[in-house]
Parts: sequence; C-alpha cells; structure tokens
Amino acid sequence: MPTSNSSAADAQLPVNEGHRRALEWVQTGPKKLLIGGEWVNAKSNRTFDSFDPSTEQRLTSVAEADALDVDAAVVAARKAFEAPSWSGITPHARTRALLKIAEMIDLHADELAALESLDNGMPLWYSTASAAAAGEVFRYYAGWPSKMFGTTNPTDSSAFLYTVREPMGVCGQINAWNVPLMQAAIKISTALACGNTVVMKPAEQAPLSTLRLAELILETNLPPGVLNILPGFGPSAGAAIAAHLGIDKVAFTGSTAIGKQILEASIGNLKKVTLELGGKSPNIIFPDADIEKAVQSAVKSFCSNSGQVCSAGTRVFVHESLHDEVSEHIAKIAATYKVGSPFASDTKLGPLISAKQLERVLHYIESGKEAGATLLQGGCRIGGTGHFVEPTVFSGVANTMKIAQEEIFGPVVSIIPFKDENDAVFQGNDTQYGLAAAVWTRDISRAHTVARRLKAGRVWINTYGEADPVMAFGGYKQSGIGREFGAESIDAYTQTKAVLVRF
Ligand code: NAI
Ligand code: MG
Repeated sequence: MPTSNSSAADAQLPVNEGHRRALEWVQTGPKKLLIGGEWVNAKSNRTFDSFDPSTEQRLTSVAEADALDVDAAVVAARKAFEAPSWSGITPHARTRALLKIAEMIDLHADELAALESLDNGMPLWYSTASAAAAGEVFRYYAGWPSKMFGTTNPTDSSAFLYTVREPMGVCGQINAWNVPLMQAAIKISTALACGNTVVMKPAEQAPLSTLRLAELILETNLPPGVLNILPGFGPSAGAAIAAHLGIDKVAFTGSTAIGKQILEASIGNLKKVTLELGGKSPNIIFPDADIEKAVQSAVKSFCSNSGQVCSAGTRVFVHESLHDEVSEHIAKIAATYKVGSPFASDTKLGPLISAKQLERVLHYIESGKEAGATLLQGGCRIGGTGHFVEPTVFSGVANTMKIAQEEIFGPVVSIIPFKDENDAVFQGNDTQYGLAAAVWTRDISRAHTVARRLKAGRVWINTYGEADPVMAFGGYKQSGIGREFGAESIDAYTQTKAVLVRF
C-alpha cells in the first residue's frame, strides 16, 4: 500500500476482475526500474508519482531514472546483445520468445487494460481494444524472424555476393503517454524480432502499463538485459538515451518539437533515428460520399482517446454545398458522446492526461473563438476534478487558423469548407504535418486520385483510423522519419551487410 497521501486506487470499486488485479498491482508498492533483469531503485533514489487523470489522485510512486541509470541499462543491454543467449539463437527461437510474450499479454489483457485506464484515463473499451492489439502486434512480429531475407546478387562466376539483414544493436526507445501500452508493444516487439536489445523510457505521465508489461515479459524468461525499462523525465532520462554513445538506434514517439531535439542529440554517434510525431490529418468528405457513415466516423475519429491520437482526423473538409448541414450533424452526434469515468460502461471519452494538457486544449478552443470560427458544440471543461473536456466542434474554420494548423491533442475538430477537388487537396496538404488522411467518395477514380495526391503516410478511403500491423505507419513532412509496422519497420530495426566471396 502507498504509505502517504490518499491513493486513487483505494477509492475505486473494481468493475471487473482485471480492474481488481490492476488495483492490487498498483498497491503492491513503489515501482522500480528494470535493468539487466533486476528491478532496482534509481541510483539517485529519486521517485516521482503517477496520477489518475480522472480523480487527480496519486496512484503510486515510480523510480525516476536519470543519466546514470541510462548508463547502467546500456551496459546491460550491450551485454545481452552480445550474449549467445540472444545473438546466438535461431530465428525460430526468437519467434517462440515473441509468441510467449503475446500469450502472456492475452492472459493478462484485462488487467493491462484496466491499468492503462487508471494511469492514462482512456475508457475501458478503448484500453481493452488496445491490450488485445498489443498481443496481436507481438504475434505479427513473431512471424518475421524467419522471413527477414537477404539477397544473392549478380557477380562474375568467380565470386559470390550476398546480403544479410543484421540487428542494429542497442535500441533506445522513448514513448509518449497517449497510448502507452500499444507504443511499448510496437517498439519492443519490432526490436526483439530483429534481434536487438532495448532501453525504453515510458512517458512520465503514464508509465504503469509499460512496467507491468515488462514484468510479464520477464516471466516468459527473456534473457536478462534484453529489455530494460527506465521511467523518468524527458530532459534527464530521455535526453540521456538520445545522446548516449552506446545506443545504436533511437525510436521516439511524441511532439515534433521534441522529435527535432532527439535528432540533434543523436548526432554524436550518428544513431539511426525513427520519429513518430504529430499530425493535423485531413478527413475529406465529397458530396457523393455515404454522408451518414462519413459523419459517424468523423466524430469517432476526433473523439477517440479524447483526441489524444496523433493520426486523429482533426480537420474535416466538407464541400461548401454541404458544409452547414454536415457540421450540424457532426455537432449533434458529438453532443451525444458521453464524457466520464473510464470505467463507466457508457463512457466514450475519458479525461485528458494532465492539467497541462487540459490547459493547452482550452487555450486552443479560445483561440478558435477569437479567430472567428463558429463554436457549434462543447468548448468547456467538465466538472472541477479530473481533466475532462467536452467534445468540441468548430465549423466555418479557415485552414490558416491556429486551430487548423497546430496539433491540439484534445477532442476538438475544425470543419473547413472546400470548393472542388483541387481545393480540397490543396488545403488538405497545406500543413507542416503529413501523418494520415482520409477521403470519402463513391467515385472510385476520385478516391484513388485524391489518395495519391494527399501527402500523408497513411490514407484511408471510406473509413478512418483502421489499423493493422501489416500497414506501415509514419509521417510525411514534419510528422516524422521512418515507419513503424509493416515490412518497413523491419528495415528500421535492421541494417544490411553485403558479403563478397572471391573463389
Ligand atoms: P513530448 O514530446 O514532450 O513527450 C514525449 C516523450 O518524450 C515523453 O516520454 C517525454 O518524457 C520525452 N521527452 C521530453 N523531452 C525530451 C528530451 N529533451 N529528450 C528526450 N526525450 C524527451 O510531448 P508532451 O509534452 O507530453 O505533449 C505535448 C504535445 O505533444 C501534445 O499536446 C501533442 O500535441 C504532442 N504529442 C504528440 C504525440 C504523438 O503521438 N504524435 C504524443 C504525445 C504528445
Ligand atoms: Mg498517470
């Protein structure tokens, strides 16, 4: 049990067995760092608290890593990388290791989901889907080790030239707070499938599901040091990972501003860098679309996880002939989306992650009003405790307004009129970001033409936000570098060696 302060965990009645187990785990005591297969305190002995964003109460304390702990984790990760128990195993053994993790996640999915809802605030239906997807992602990458083929290359007859794909080495991984379990699952599974070892920093706002995931992974007998987890803050632990000369690759998910800092910090040893950054994704509705379906999907897209999703469809472009009607429709549906406790069965939106994020979102809402956009729905904080905000709909937005250009990361949508196809594409692309996009039309030529013209790493046609591990994910422009998921992610976690034999 936590020794000081009243704990959010004390106050809650569990809604199911997974929730009960999550609360029990939270109450087992302060959480530690995972280094070299051992749970240890930070060398500084410092800790920080993790909070429940619904109640604003402290859940538990967590060891706070800094540069010295990063040093120790890198030593452990390097040793594990070189050890025959990891580098010397067959691809099939690597597959089995990943499958065991997938099974372990499945077995504890309800607990992981509830923990995510406690620490991050996402509704239980969303965290449940997320935990299931985390298992699936390990299963997907379990298929890869025996399929990472090199090539045999043309040479004269007295030589043989082939390539092999080899791991990068020690991978630093820095995650954001918005979907912590899923981000941990994607990054760990890809790195391990390719034979790397990991030094991961979860976000300080929601580190618990990653820590529990790591405990479960240890139970599968993964060799010590293959996975190291260092909760802590960006400027200390995060910056130390980005700059560490013993780390070969860094993968980051978070804001574009910090992504740029990671890139700069990684220069010392020319780390291979992948960045999954922000977005301001266009969701374009043509007049010939299935409007009802498009509208329902549009609301779901900007409200899911309270809008704290990098690929959320936050700019909805509607043909000017339908703008007013569709905007009203979107506002009406959004008004029915219930905001509340992540554990209530009718909740569609939980709280935002923090007071800081709430303040940021409310600031953007004010800016939309000041700029002259029409506030059709929402716009206010709900209640005095917990970081809850109403689903918020602005219509008549100009694409040049701040609310249309900057990532808000809250349940706020900008509805923007367009004149014709060229105008929709031009405005859709007129942003620094390029993470995702969608087009709604029954005209198959227009669908594919517009999909090709949109500058985004992922484009959906007549749907929004569907994810599949086979589908690469990443950004054009300032939405990032490199890809997660799909075959492209294997390229990001391996390097090519060309071997020439002269007979
Ligand atoms: P952030 O980019 O500061 O944090 C993401 C991660 O980076 C966290 O683990 C943090 O500890 C770490 N970090 C922070 N400074 C660092 C540094 N100097 N070196 C290394 N690591 C560092 O994002 P933040 O402040 O939590 O959210 C602010 C805004 O960023 C959000 O409102 C949203 O617009 C955007 N964001 C976008 C995300 C996405 O998925 N694209 C995820 C999270 C935030
Ligand atoms: Mg938290």
